[in-house]
Amino acid sequence: MQERLLELQEEALQKVTAASELKELNEVRVAYLGKKGPITEVLRGMGKLSAEERPKIGALANEVREAIATEIEQKQKALETAAVNAKLATETIDVTLPGRPVNKGNLHPLTRVVEEIEDLFIGMGYTVAEGPEVESDYYNFEALNLPKSHPARDMQDSFYITEEILMRTHTSPVQARTMKKHKGQGPVKIICPGKVYRRDNDDATHSHQFQQIEGLVIDENISMSDLKGTLDVFAKKVFGQDREIRLRPSFFPFTEPSVEVDISCKICGGKGCSVCKQTGWIEVLGAGIVHPNVLEMAGFDSKKYSGFAFGMGVERIAMLKYGVDDIRHFYTNDVRFLKQFNHHEA
Ligand code: PHE
Repeated sequence: MQERLLELQEEALQKVTAASELKELNEVRVAYLGKKGPITEVLRGMGKLSAEERPKIGALANEVREAIATEIEQKQKALETAAVNAKLATETIDVTLPGRPVNKGNLHPLTRVVEEIEDLFIGMGYTVAEGPEVESDYYNFEALNLPKSHPARDMQDSFYITEEILMRTHTSPVQARTMKKHKGQGPVKIICPGKVYRRDNDDATHSHQFQQIEGLVIDENISMSDLKGTLDVFAKKVFGQDREIRLRPSFFPFTEPSVEVDISCKICGGKGCSVCKQTGWIEVLGAGIVHPNVLEMAGFDSKKYSGFAFGMGVERIAMLKYGVDDIRHFYTNDVRFLKQFNHHEA
């Protein structure tokens, strides 16, 4: 029996030494130290031994177990350390490698234009005002001197939701709303960027949804020359210092007099080309002196206060500024188009 135990010890230790993986080592453990292992079996046969021999063999069996267990434990530690070292060796990071470039997105050209114009006007003391895109007939038309059945409503084909509610056709209702909030007290100095909706068929220059920026100034003694000076600053800042503006008489129900504002064509320097349709001038926005009816309806005394307002299409400004020939490019989100604005500094 003694011999058998020593033999088992020898055998087990050899296997422990030979084990090269944790799994293998565990198999050795189960095979030799487990309940069904050979050592347990030897111990079971101890009944046949004499009372003298029994404790000796018992003690030896324990020693053998102990020896095998210790050896397994040591081997296990060694294998674990080796595994960690191997992992560390394969996972080393070479910090001297150059990094991969991060793909940076960029602002949408329309966002750029809106932010540039906002910054310009904020710099001149304006605040940014916003209003709902789903608007009442009252603010979109009536408060702007466009009573029901006024023929000029046809200038802006509208998406009606109910008889009294529609998708706003311009940002001018924000004027009416802001004026009302001021309760007849000037000054008012706001710009209102936002989306507007019209029943237009989409083509290279029309879209059923587009963006506008509205400006409104109300104070005592505001005149056409204030409007002209303001728009001149705008044109030079957005399109370049060498640009001129020109005002042409026009009509809007909410302004009187009303003007259409052109900027000089940079491409031909005023000589005439296809972009300016041979005129040397490009139309960029509508404006005028706020109609007394609009002031009065919003609670302003039109004898004390006067004001100017202007409204422009953001897409049109962006098309002229960046030389984009189709408004639909702004909405189709083709990254090849959008990426071109990566390096344009606003
Ligand atoms: N609301 C007008 C439009 O959408 C633009 C405009 C605004 C004209 C303010 C004059 C004054 O066509």
